[in-house]
Amino acid sequence: MKRILILNGPNLNLLGRREPEVYGSQTFEAYFETLPALFPELDLAYFQSNHEGAILDKLHEVGFSYDGIVLNAGAYTHTSVAIADAISGITTPVIEVHISNVHAREAFRHHSFISPKAAGIIVGFGLKGYELALRSFL
Ligand code: DQA
Repeated sequence: MKRILILNGPNLNLLGRREPEVYGSQTFEAYFETLPALFPELDLAYFQSNHEGAILDKLHEVGFSYDGIVLNAGAYTHTSVAIADAISGITTPVIEVHISNVHAREAFRHHSFISPKAAGIIVGFGLKGYELALRSFL
């Protein structure tokens, strides 16, 4: 069974309550519970942190043994050279996901330090983007 980590960054613990017109009204925990039935062939894990260092530690921890990482780094996408360097340093492929269409939003969201290091990028499909990313590992 392929082992896949979904890794969410800052403020994504507030999904369901945070700007529902942008990010929807479902919590990530409730959404995550629906995934094993959709992907019985994948062994799924989930981790969220608001702390850049904790995200780095998790990438280092799983990044040489897991088969894939689905990463929504939230606002760190647009700021973090350290997360980009971590993705370069690990061997597990990383798919970058954004719930909203960042290219239809403020200019500061148009640049991603992660995109050049990602195996693929899925943007603007709501929570369904995580499923699209998971499908790429089947
Ligand atoms: C986001 C987009 C980012 O610009 C923002 O900072 C987030 C969420 C998304 O999933 O649409 O926190 O990554």
